[in-house]
Amino acid sequence: MRVVILEERLCECLNRAKAAHRAWSVRRVSSRLSPALRVEFRHRELRAESCPSRTHPRSVKAPASVNMVETSTEAGTVKIPASFRRLVARRTGNSFRDVAEVEEISTPKLEAGQVLVQIIYAGVNGGCETFRARGEFAFAKNKEKDLFGLGAEGVGIVAALGAGVDKLQVGQAVTTAGANAFAEYVVASGDSCYPVREATGEAVAVSLSGLTAAGALEVKGEMKEGDTVLVTAAAGATGSFGVQLAKLAGCHVVATVGSPEKAAIVKELGADRIINYHEEDVAQVLSEEYPERIDIAYEGVGGRLRDAVVDNLAPGGRLLAVGYISDYPHTKTSNSQNGTSVSSQPSSSGQHHENGNGKAGRLSSRLPPPHELMWQAQTLNFEGRTLYGNVWPTDPKRLQAAKDNLFKRYYSGQIRALVDHTKKFHGVEQVCDAIDFMLSGKALGKVVVDMRRQS
Ligand SMILES: NC(=O)c1ccc[n+]([C@@H]2O[C@H](COP(=O)([O-])OP(=O)(O)OC[C@H]3O[C@@H](n4cnc5c(N)ncnc54)[C@H](OP(=O)(O)O)[C@@H]3O)[C@@H](O)[C@H]2O)c1
Repeated sequence: MRVVILEERLCECLNRAKAAHRAWSVRRVSSRLSPALRVEFRHRELRAESCPSRTHPRSVKAPASVNMVETSTEAGTVKIPASFRRLVARRTGNSFRDVAEVEEISTPKLEAGQVLVQIIYAGVNGGCETFRARGEFAFAKNKEKDLFGLGAEGVGIVAALGAGVDKLQVGQAVTTAGANAFAEYVVASGDSCYPVREATGEAVAVSLSGLTAAGALEVKGEMKEGDTVLVTAAAGATGSFGVQLAKLAGCHVVATVGSPEKAAIVKELGADRIINYHEEDVAQVLSEEYPERIDIAYEGVGGRLRDAVVDNLAPGGRLLAVGYISDYPHTKTSNSQNGTSVSSQPSSSGQHHENGNGKAGRLSSRLPPPHELMWQAQTLNFEGRTLYGNVWPTDPKRLQAAKDNLFKRYYSGQIRALVDHTKKFHGVEQVCDAIDFMLSGKALGKVVVDMRRQS
């Protein structure tokens, strides 16, 4: 199919829609456009509604509009940008903000199997981005690189297709994975793009935060009806999916949160027992109210919360150690710099409830530190309990099935994608602010950045 997106025609359509607003709906006008033009039309509308951007200190000045050029591709002639902006790092450093810089590059020519995707929303995965920026653990090789991309997850619109890509179409909404999503456009392998109905912040939340929870609980953790499942940071990006998936599976869900506002959200999502760890002692609640203990813990906070959870695992129980954010580098550096602080530790530290074991016999006292468990992807067996440092399914077919099922449930309304709408972040200039906001621990659900250039 030959697709030509003409700016003039688009403007004309927009003007007609505006002028005719009372006579017929914008939707009807949009329905007269070709699919690719309709998508662009919708983006223009959204762009027009969005707020002005702040400037990142390292950024180059944003041109007022993207210079589009006609390019021939396998799919026909499309208009793609002559250049676009993205965030990159040219060295490792202490934090994401330390290393991130905006660069404008010429749009590369697509190779066979590649697609050009206009990123609409990029997902913020603050922990992962911090380690990437620091060149630590799985990202150690970044220390040797002159340049590396930033941003692990995005959703956008296919803008152009390379040779041999026959399963995608220009104008189609897809999620992308890989380290380049903090960009206006990204070149991705066609195989790695996952078609979705619309390029929304919710879709990007499902694609990684949701999938982490589904892969961990359903595949690795073998969650089943009747299990008692504990989820930490339960109002967070991945925890909120964990709560819902466990409820859907017919489990009893215990959720820990750090504020009354988060408790209210988690209640809406269906959690049965909510523990605000600033108000209640997690270990005490577990030992008093759950004498049969916990079958599965989906745990991403670490520290004393991890200890309390591990010491209350039932025989045969599984710890799915997804992270340890209370001990990530921002808790030692950026919090004191930017004035935010998260009292992430539950109040169970002082008084531990023994559950029949003496202090020395506690399982938590015999565990490796969380970073070892996770980054070395250890699987440990202790007295019939299994502790997984890598929560991702190893079988790609099972992972794919979990993803398909997750999106099906999302689109059928069985699960919600919780996206933080209390703060809006726009463009490459505001990604650092979005990362800091996520790391502040104040977000309710997934933090996303609208990557479209403000006109
Ligand atoms: N392994 C993977 O593939 C993978 C994928 C996604 C996420 N993760 C991990 O899962 C965990 C949750 O990530 P997420 O992206 O879903 O984030 P999130 O839950 O949306 O946000 C983090 C939450 O952690 C809690 N928290 C406790 N102490 C904190 C501290 N010192 N700083 C910041 N937050 C703190 C806060 O919730 P409360 O106030 O309710 O405690 C906060 O809202 C992280 O450890 C992350 O690295 C791992």
